[in-house]
Parts: sequence; C-alpha cells; structure tokens
Amino acid sequence: MKQPGVTRALPVRGISKPGQGPGARYDSLAVTYFPSKLPCQYRRRWSVSLPCSGWVRVGPLRSNHQAYRVYRRSWTHVKRVDALKTIRMTGRCYNRRVMKKIGVLASGGDAPGMNAAIRAVTRTALFRGAEVWGFWDGYNGLLDHRVEELTTWHVAGSLRHGGSIIGAGRCEPFLDADVRIKAVEELREDGFEGLVVIGGEGSMQGAWELHKLGMPTVCIPATIDNDMPGTEITIGADTAINTAMEAIDRLQDTAAAHRRAMIVEVMGRQCGYIAIMAGLASGAEMVITPERPMELEGIFEEMRQVWLRGKRHFIIVLAEGARWGAAELAQLINESDKPYDARYTVLGYIQRGGVPTRFDRILGTRMGVKGADALLDGASGALVCWRNNRSQVLPIDELPPRGDPWDEMLGRVHAISTM
Ligand code: F6P
Repeated sequence: MKQPGVTRALPVRGISKPGQGPGARYDSLAVTYFPSKLPCQYRRRWSVSLPCSGWVRVGPLRSNHQAYRVYRRSWTHVKRVDALKTIRMTGRCYNRRVMKKIGVLASGGDAPGMNAAIRAVTRTALFRGAEVWGFWDGYNGLLDHRVEELTTWHVAGSLRHGGSIIGAGRCEPFLDADVRIKAVEELREDGFEGLVVIGGEGSMQGAWELHKLGMPTVCIPATIDNDMPGTEITIGADTAINTAMEAIDRLQDTAAAHRRAMIVEVMGRQCGYIAIMAGLASGAEMVITPERPMELEGIFEEMRQVWLRGKRHFIIVLAEGARWGAAELAQLINESDKPYDARYTVLGYIQRGGVPTRFDRILGTRMGVKGADALLDGASGALVCWRNNRSQVLPIDELPPRGDPWDEMLGRVHAISTM
C-alpha cells in the first residue's frame, strides 16, 4: 500500500545530491538532530559532537548542506565503527532514504498494550512509504517464515484488545548464535531492511544480537513486569496493576468478613513493581518483593500489631520472585502462633490478559511511532524508553540499570496509608 511518505512532505532544502561531495573526515562522530516543525529551522538545529573525552558539541554547522553531508558520512561511519561503541546517532533525518520493507514481532510474554504498539509501528511504516510485515509468535515466526504483510486494516480496531494480534512467544532456538546468523541471512534474502521487536528483556537481548549481526533492530519495551533497564515504565504494567488491584479489593472484602490474612501472589518475575503498586493502590498491609526479602518473624510481628489495632483483614501482596510462594507462606502463617487465619490466591495469567488501560494504549501508541520512526531514520540496537514523561531512543548497551522500585518515599507512603 503506497502512502505519501514524510520524505516528500518534509524535504531539507538546498540539497541537490544528498550524501555526495567533499565532507569533513571524522574519525568518530555523533550527530544530534533536533526535529523541527519547519524546514527553514533546520539550519540552526543541526549540531555535531565529537567523542573526545565525552561528547563535545562543535555545531551548529554552517549550512543545511554541510549538516546533511556530515549526517550521511557519519551514518556510513556508524556501521564501520559501531563495535568500538564510539558512535551514537539519535534524531531523525526526513530525506534519508526510507527503508522499503521492515518487520515487526511481539516476543516473550504478551502484555496489554502490545497491539497499540504493533498498530502504531504498522501505520508509521505505511505513512512513511515502507512495507511492514508481522512475524507470527515472536522470533518463532522469524525462524519458520511465518510472516504476513500488514496493512492499515489488519491493525484496525486492535487498540482495545489484550494479547497480540500477531501472537507472542518465547523462542529457545533463537539463543543459538548459528540460528540467529541464518535468520539474519534469510531476512536479508527476503528483502527486510529492519525489524521492530516488541517485548521484555529477553526479547531486547535478541534485538541486540540481531543488531550486532548487522540487521537494524529497534526494541519497544512491553512486559507487565516493568523490569527493564532504561525505561521508567513498560507497556502492559499499568493494566496488570489495575487487574491485581481489582482482585485485591475483592479479596479484602472476604478477608475482612472472616478476620483473615489473605496472601495475593502477583506476577513480576524477579521484580516487585506490580506487587508494590497494586499493594499501594489497594491499601494492602504488607508487600513482599524479591528486592526486599523479609524474615518470617518480621511478618508475624507486623500481623500482631495490625490485629491489635483492630483491623479485620491483613492483606499481603506477594511478588512471585519472593522467598516463598503463596501456598508456602500461608502454611507457615497457619502453623505459627498467628492472630489471623491465612488463605491465599495466585492471580497468575489473569494479569496478562484483558482490555488495556488508556495509559497502556497511549504508551504503546507513542512508543510504536517513536520506535518505527527511529528504525526508519536509521537507528539500531536501541530501546525506546519512557523517561520524564516522554519517549526517547537509547542505545541498548548504555541503558542505565534499574533500581529497587521500592524507595524510601514509597515506604513512608505505604506506612502512612496502611495505619
Ligand atoms: O514476563 C511476564 C511474565 O508474565 C512474568 O511475570 C512471569 O514470570 C512469566 O511471564 C511467565 O511466563 P510464561 O508465560 O512463559 O509462563
């Protein structure tokens, strides 16, 4: 489906033969381009940085033409010296040749809002004149050639649905380097020039490996666990927290009726984010996460204190990666000299399905547009991150690590709100 591309809509003025002519020779170079609303503003907004003891800005450049030449040169350079990790490119260049054919896949566990991202990637690619193909079931479809061309109609109406319209999945064979090399060769043979991978941390590692093999790949973070580095939030976490919160509200009713302790196990792998946020949102008395292991004695003591304060329920939100499973903890409590009788519920996959919240729909859409734009502009080995309320594209090998989601402030808020 041919669409009028941005290429035509926003030409940089004054360039007759892009990428040709004598350009300055830079050993290693990064170009930062700040997208502007009007073509006439381009000139001021180009700048060039050289990586000598950090990034040093030496722009703005003299003209659009020079800026564009530098950009083009640096781009060929990116490929050459990428291994040295000296080159970073961000931003976009509207009259760079747009890729003709890209792929998109959703990998790992599905997350509500993934469809919004698939939809946005598809429509961005079409808008910019590129074909977009969806690989079925994550990297599995890439290995077995289960791929389908996506049109704007394929993705229509998908915003409001959970799951993934092109499937999702984990793919063990993809961990094998030879399998990945073959996959990249086949992708090239089939004319693919780039790939958008939507998924969690494992999927991002896969994207990084493809990038290292020369297949331009950009990753969009989607996992209910919100356990990825670099980004403050991942697609799907908000919906999962809402689902957990609603379940805890119901469980609190029955716990209070019987004066019980109720343990609610939520997902999150090794990250306590869902547990903490669902616990805060529902006023749970205790949250146990893998990042903050607790001693049994501490749990019993807290329980006694809450009993003495006259509360009829004691809700524990337990993250799945914590020291005990829900069944085990309930048994330990029931065998102890406890004030409350304990019961447990494991929410499991209920948290992964369902209608995405407006937050996840918007996040998926914004990240999808950003990711596809970045790929079509030539970015690779990068993750779309949500930071300070906006999306950014950061190199995967330079992502700031994730900290403990439970900080001092949250501790205080929790203590006060569950008094
Ligand atoms: O990563 C999302 C997640 O739902 C985790 O919270 C959970 O540990 C895991 O996936 C379950 O994976 P699977 O669907 O492969 O059983």
